[in-house]
Amino acid sequence: MIIASNFKTNHTRESAKEYLVKLNHFVKENSIKEDILIFPPSTALDNYKLENTIKIGVQNAYPTDKGSFTGEVGFTQIDEFDIKTILVGHSERRHILKESDELIVKKYNFYKDKCYKIVYCIGEPKEVRNEGLEKVLEYNFSQLDGIDLSYENLIVAYEPVWAIGTGVSATKEDIEETLSALRKSIKAPLLYGGSVKVDNLKEILEIEDCDGVLVGTASWEVENFKEMVKIAHEL
Ligand code: 13P
Repeated sequence: MIIASNFKTNHTRESAKEYLVKLNHFVKENSIKEDILIFPPSTALDNYKLENTIKIGVQNAYPTDKGSFTGEVGFTQIDEFDIKTILVGHSERRHILKESDELIVKKYNFYKDKCYKIVYCIGEPKEVRNEGLEKVLEYNFSQLDGIDLSYENLIVAYEPVWAIGTGVSATKEDIEETLSALRKSIKAPLLYGGSVKVDNLKEILEIEDCDGVLVGTASWEVENFKEMVKIAHEL
């Protein structure tokens, strides 16, 4: 099972370190074997000494080794911290930062060539969900255009835009039917993200085609995230 935390624009370098020390201690003490992925902001990247089951990833990186891309980090900057995991295509980057499908595919291919573990995000907005499952699948599959689905280090995160940061998760039935349709074409692990919390985690992880979760808000406080890791561990 994969339990991932996306810090988004939260935590400082200092608080991220405190968080990771506590999480690492918890994982060690409880012999947690779940795969834990943490995506801190890029200011908090470092050479953390963590248990093997905890991996640090970047929330974003430009598809370049180095160069003139003001405000971006590239492979050289993240490789300094021995990071091998990246989030690509998060809806906040697609919608708020206006990242194009073309750039997303470029990032995917660039970091695939570097053998990174790629958590590739897809998910439909509310108006598409309102049109029913067929349209939802059409939209989500269109976000997979140009992506090599047979890549061995791929993880796909289904994150419906309308469920992100709203406190209202997709229903169990919505998640079930969407993931099972995606499963027909995707052999990679499938995650669900969007208002996952301590209260709904177990129900979501019990869904047949769900291999884990990508958590935002509910993961930012370490005690809460430890509770979620514990729930996954006990399943
Ligand atoms: P929330 O858990 O805050 O809804 O965010 C989900 C998300 O976007 C994870 O990448």
